[in-house]
Amino acid sequence: MRVLVVGGAGYIGSHVVMDLLDNGHEVTVFDNLSTGHEINLFEEAHFVKGDMLIEEDLEGVLNAGEYDAVIHLAALKAAGDSMTDPETYAHHNICGSINLLNAVTRHGIRKFVFSSTAAVFGDPRYLPVDENHPVDPANFYGFTKLQFERQLAWFDKLRGMKFVSLRYFNAAGYDPDLRVKGLEVNPKNLVPVVMEVAMGTRKELMVFGSDFETRDGTGIRDYIHVSDLASAHTKALDYLAGGGDSLAVNLGSESGHSVLEVVQCAREVTGREIPYKLVDRREGDPACLYATSQHAQKVLNWKPVQSDLKSMIATTWNAYINQ
Ligand SMILES: NC(=O)c1ccc[n+]([C@@H]2O[C@H](COP(=O)([O-])OP(=O)(O)OC[C@H]3O[C@@H](n4cnc5c(N)ncnc54)[C@H](O)[C@@H]3O)[C@@H](O)[C@H]2O)c1
Repeated sequence: MRVLVVGGAGYIGSHVVMDLLDNGHEVTVFDNLSTGHEINLFEEAHFVKGDMLIEEDLEGVLNAGEYDAVIHLAALKAAGDSMTDPETYAHHNICGSINLLNAVTRHGIRKFVFSSTAAVFGDPRYLPVDENHPVDPANFYGFTKLQFERQLAWFDKLRGMKFVSLRYFNAAGYDPDLRVKGLEVNPKNLVPVVMEVAMGTRKELMVFGSDFETRDGTGIRDYIHVSDLASAHTKALDYLAGGGDSLAVNLGSESGHSVLEVVQCAREVTGREIPYKLVDRREGDPACLYATSQHAQKVLNWKPVQSDLKSMIATTWNAYINQ
């Protein structure tokens, strides 16, 4: 397929592009390089620099090629920032995504894969979180993603846009062969923050909450290897190409790890001390959050194969020490 990957120079996008190329797809990356890297671009893929907030940029890339499908990963993604600067998040994540959807619809494209998030669910009412779990975002970032999922559903009804919304849990890891070179910019997730402590660029890790009702008192989250996430996008395109109906699926590894388990594993992998400090819980942080991805496994014929904690930490460490 000829695929336009919006946000394809970013952390997850570059892994997606690699998986698409490995599977014989023709890829064009459209990215404004705000958090993406030029070194994440692959020679085998076309690249058009541009911003989805600018209609002429979108027209430019859509006029420059014929595409069978679009994968949309471009967004701002810091949940905390979205609560203090909702205008910017509304502009980028909602207005930008609507610009993109309008433009690709005008150009006759009817297959769309969207990077959504576990944040659409808010506080879990039961575990593991499945696709029937009510959506009720606890932060504005999650709301922006849910809003666009709803936009897609209307465009399916009114314009026949078939979409797969992939609700990622926490992405971690790097390509084991280090084909992706650029590190995630300003990461807020646990694994890269732990790596920064291991590298000595951050003094210590703050562990928010040690009195949760979990096996060691620290919060439990679901981590999924970025290469597993990437392969789900390729499978989602196969699904749409086979005439599949629009759907939203959870992508998690089915098992959660506590903060201290991540620290312990990182100590073993890096051989570094990784000092940490136990501090108060952050408001709104649930004790446990993990998904079932049975639905994705069944409908997309996808399976996470690299999402054990050690692989995620070892490949991330490899990327950090090879900078
Ligand atoms: N990283 C995670 O754990 C995680 C979890 C759930 C969902 N997501 C979603 O996955 C997607 C990718 O996340 P990531 O971690 O790779 O982030 P990233 O910041 O590394 O990638 C985003 C890419 O989009 C580009 N971009 C941003 N705004 C743009 C615009 N207006 N026009 C064109 N390009 C633009 C950036 O330059 C960057 O290359 C995001 O939509 C994010 O919300 C990420």
